[in-house]
Amino acid sequence: MIQFIEKQQLFHLTTPQSSYVMAVADGEWLGHLYYGPKLADTTGMEKAFRLNEFPFSPAVNERDKVRFTQLFPFEYSFFGMGDYREPCLSVENEYGMNGVELTYRSFEIIPGKVIPEGLPHTRGDEACCDTLDLLMADDVLGLDVHLLYTVYQDLDVIVKSVKVVNRSDAPVTLKRVLSGQLNQEPEECEVLTLHGSWGRERTITRQPLMTGSVSAESLRGVSSAEDSPFLAILSPGTTQTMGEVWGMSLIYSGNFLAKAQIDQAGRLRCVMGIHPEGFSWPMVPGDTFQSPEVALVYSGEGLGKMTRTYHDLYRSHLIEKRWLTQDRPVLVNNWEATMMNFDTDVLIGFAKAAKEAGLDMLVMDDGWFGHRDDDTSSLGDWFVDERKLKGGLKKLTDAVNEMGMKFGIWVEPEMVNEDSELFRAHPDWRFQLPDRKPGALRQQYVLDLTREEVWEGVYSQIHDTLASANIAYVKWDMNRYLSDVGSMVREPGCQGQILHQYVLAVYRMQERLLKDFPDLLLENCSSGGARFDAGMLFYSPQIWTSDDTDAIERLSIQEGTALVFPVSTMGAHVSVCPNLQTGRDVPFNTRAKVAMAGTFGYEMDVRNMDPEEKAMIPEQVALFRKVHPVVREGDYYRIASFRENHHSDCWMVVTKDRSLAYMTYVQVLAAANRPGVPVRMQGLDPDAAYEVICDYKGAMAAHNGEMSMGPEASHHLGRFNGDTLMKHGIIVPRVRGDYQALMYEIKKV
Ligand code: DGJ
Repeated sequence: MIQFIEKQQLFHLTTPQSSYVMAVADGEWLGHLYYGPKLADTTGMEKAFRLNEFPFSPAVNERDKVRFTQLFPFEYSFFGMGDYREPCLSVENEYGMNGVELTYRSFEIIPGKVIPEGLPHTRGDEACCDTLDLLMADDVLGLDVHLLYTVYQDLDVIVKSVKVVNRSDAPVTLKRVLSGQLNQEPEECEVLTLHGSWGRERTITRQPLMTGSVSAESLRGVSSAEDSPFLAILSPGTTQTMGEVWGMSLIYSGNFLAKAQIDQAGRLRCVMGIHPEGFSWPMVPGDTFQSPEVALVYSGEGLGKMTRTYHDLYRSHLIEKRWLTQDRPVLVNNWEATMMNFDTDVLIGFAKAAKEAGLDMLVMDDGWFGHRDDDTSSLGDWFVDERKLKGGLKKLTDAVNEMGMKFGIWVEPEMVNEDSELFRAHPDWRFQLPDRKPGALRQQYVLDLTREEVWEGVYSQIHDTLASANIAYVKWDMNRYLSDVGSMVREPGCQGQILHQYVLAVYRMQERLLKDFPDLLLENCSSGGARFDAGMLFYSPQIWTSDDTDAIERLSIQEGTALVFPVSTMGAHVSVCPNLQTGRDVPFNTRAKVAMAGTFGYEMDVRNMDPEEKAMIPEQVALFRKVHPVVREGDYYRIASFRENHHSDCWMVVTKDRSLAYMTYVQVLAAANRPGVPVRMQGLDPDAAYEVICDYKGAMAAHNGEMSMGPEASHHLGRFNGDTLMKHGIIVPRVRGDYQALMYEIKKV
């Protein structure tokens, strides 16, 4: 709900359990007052501005204005007029002078959602949300700034964005337009970010913030493996179930800045949006600029509640609706098994073996086009390599379809190799700076998709490929970061737009692809999980989480990813051991249980497998089909973290009606003389009775080399009260051997 309390000139935004309060001070300054547990009433809150005390207000006290601007908790901050903290908005006038001052003008409450054109966004009609449009302005520059707040009725979420309009008759240049700000006055706090690298994406990092600032950022052109566009502020000691959490998640896939800063008065300001480095946006009179959205979540019940709120928001209001209830195909992907060394016969062999094992889809990865035998060539040439796929794509897909299997294909539309027909015909289509040789990465270069002819040239090839055969799924890869970003066909002064326009061009291409092929399942990927963000989820309901398929390393990667992103979006496959990245051997059973935490598939040579492991696939697929609807639509609870405790990992998924749950427990390291430990479940109905079944014997069998995981191996633990399972817990047995996984089914009776 959105309320304006005229007497106080105060806005009170309420969600089921949170309040967000801001007010207009002295008739012009929009300040932030509160974001936290829901307030019954806001009477007197505006006094928190303390306009009669230090830092004073220029109008009330006739004191120095800069004493005010350097301390006032601006709702949306601006640079150049004496606020020395990290600003959201920075504007240059036509003479290159930098200064903007926003004062409050008016507001409008709009039922439903305001859609930011060209950008991924949360969705919602009048029945589920309202949007507050606060008009701020700078009359000297002739700039209007709309602060947009969408408030969801059933979720503790506020989605913010900013729209800037140049209503003057002079040009201005936006040097930064961040999407939103979060202000708090904490006594102490911690900052949580998702940090990493290739193969170690989104590792949870927590650090106290007492002075100075902590930031997460990307200058790589994509959201990146190194930092994720997410930041949370935690009250000290916050756990999964206790403590206060304020989350900020940016719905954007390019360069970003997320920064938490403590000011001289001990107040916290967090900002998030497009990274200002390399960004510069000229606006002629009449121009409009729309920022990406940032989703704010408040939880008074620890990190777990924040996680479930983001999962609900992104599953129900961001990802295309059909994917909430539609089954995802269990696939086999040939990448780790064959790399680029395959042909039609190999793939038909994969499809046959996969069909026998009960899988749904064959995905042909990198290497099917141009004359690509390694990564030195052919990106940009999206036509079949007849040396490998004799008779073409249709012949292969028809053969796979005839077996009753779907077919999926890998593409990397944003790239070009120098050794390609595309590059020979259009050497100027890649990003490059005049008089400089652009730097290669993985032997490839980024195409300037901001140019219409490049965009059309690439899209038409991808379109024609997909139209030529029955393709159910596309894995859209992006295997290098941007560098040498420049475009010779642009007017001077517009180069600072390219990085953002590139992201918009990628969005537009994915949108068009889905419009032209409405049944397509799109999975995004970027050297593993380097573009796993809420922006890409708007187009693809699943994203390849990491090239590190080692099940033990995946525990932390998937824990960090699932902190914000729905588990149903995490691409996860069973791969061969010793693992390609780590050399580690993990039981087949454990590899499958870990992959079942997300979307499921196999990334190995299913034709030539250990027969015992191969025999386990149908049972694993059957188990996945049981677990998947709960993964997809239920609530996710993080029970234990190997990253923190150094011995085990555990998570649960629970149906919304709390009638069925699955708990996965991975004993990472065995220990001598350690008795079984109680593991407290979460999310169950405390008043209901549950039957609990565990495949404990299966885990023991796996250890003994029998590898059987069938129903005969499961162990009926009996009936327990939900309250008991949550307060006392279930005794998880000591399992012999490292890397053992147990799965519990918890069913209401
Ligand atoms: C990176 C992806 O993450 C892999 O899964 C694979 O598709 C390769 N690219 C292919 O080049």
